[in-house]
Amino acid sequence: MTQNAEREQWGSKIGFILAAAGSAVGLGNIWRFPYITGQNGGAAFVLVYIALVIVIGSSVMLAEMAIGRKAQLNAVGSFQKLAGGLWPVVGWMGIVSGFTILSFYGVVGGWTIKYFFHSFTGLMAEGLAGKAGDVFGAFVSNPTLVVAYQAVFMLTTIWVVYKGVGEGIEKYCKFLMPALFLILFVLIARSVTLEGAAKGLDFYLRPDFSKITGTSIATALGQAFFSLSLGMGCMITYGSYVDKQTTLPSSAVQVCVIDTLVAFLAGLVIFPAVFAFGVDAGAGPGLTFVTLPSVFAMMPGGMIWSALFFLLLYIAALTSAISLLEVVSAYFIDRGWSRPKAAVIMGFLIFALGVPCATSLSGAPKVYGKDFFDAMDFLSSNVLLPLGGVFISLFVGWFWTNDARKEVTNEGAHGFTLLEVWIWICRVVAPAAILYIFYTGLKW
Ligand code: PFF
Repeated sequence: MTQNAEREQWGSKIGFILAAAGSAVGLGNIWRFPYITGQNGGAAFVLVYIALVIVIGSSVMLAEMAIGRKAQLNAVGSFQKLAGGLWPVVGWMGIVSGFTILSFYGVVGGWTIKYFFHSFTGLMAEGLAGKAGDVFGAFVSNPTLVVAYQAVFMLTTIWVVYKGVGEGIEKYCKFLMPALFLILFVLIARSVTLEGAAKGLDFYLRPDFSKITGTSIATALGQAFFSLSLGMGCMITYGSYVDKQTTLPSSAVQVCVIDTLVAFLAGLVIFPAVFAFGVDAGAGPGLTFVTLPSVFAMMPGGMIWSALFFLLLYIAALTSAISLLEVVSAYFIDRGWSRPKAAVIMGFLIFALGVPCATSLSGAPKVYGKDFFDAMDFLSSNVLLPLGGVFISLFVGWFWTNDARKEVTNEGAHGFTLLEVWIWICRVVAPAAILYIFYTGLKW
């Protein structure tokens, strides 16, 4: 492992926050959060989600950032340096998760590009004719097309990682994240002023506590992990590019706030529009690619709204995909590979693993009865991320505790009122809660 004096670094704290928020804000926020909220009791689910982010999500995020900044290495190297023994296995699980998540994430990333362009070339007419479902079905079962769009998405991802931490990731996130916010606010303004929007707001925001069950709490915690990019060493890797002056607790809180805000706001775009046009709100995963095009088609200027929405989704997906590729590449860069070599070779291998994900949507291959796509999703989100989260928390709570205290207070230079609360969350609360979701989520 080459431990280097000239490790790449973020140019500023805001650059770091935007890059980390770029990782966190992704398909998980805009595509997944609104529909699972719709299925799990609306505002009641949002409240449970927020509580879990505050107590567990922010704690694990801080733990990851502290580990990375102390070690100044990738996820595997960090555990090797700080602890040795079997701990690097946790980092390895992270690399495997990065590989598997990006393989299917890149497929959906490709869909966003296709839908952006298709907004101008017929999607509106098809939506009006009630054919959005058929269009989506025909598209995902055309492997050549899906793989071609996936390739374009992966190329843009590889390009940014190839350019490096400051000149690539930070530079693009500093431009893309404000663009994402701008588009989001424009879309909210459009959506909530539609006639009939109030019914959507009511559906989204009225709490229905009867829907809060063990499973929905587990869903909320699993969603929090995926959405905050936790459990796979992503924040360890990004933390390793942070300078020693940056305060970590405030950074972790800011990233959690931005991520949760975007997820919440995405619901404000989707539900008012869906209700204003009387379309099925409980459509599940198809909500974004099937339901929304039909909604846009009925709006004046629908083409523009549709294109803006899919551009938003593309930006969100891209800044997350970058972080997934960076987790994998950073390992090889720390082993002495050049950055371009790591980004291109790993990006290509992940693309190759994504090809069966893409083709599985038209039938094959299957893994024990699940589409390859769903199998990769299940393996990473339901198994590897929660397990990673348990070990990262236990590491800070029991094994690396004193050094962790020093790292999050910048060697005592900054006070952190909740220091001991954080330690106890890492020690017992987070591992117990995550093991619970691990157990309930583990149904193939
Ligand atoms: N947080 C991303 C999302 O919400 O879409 C997905 C993700 C990115 C998960 C990076 C894990 C990760 F390391």
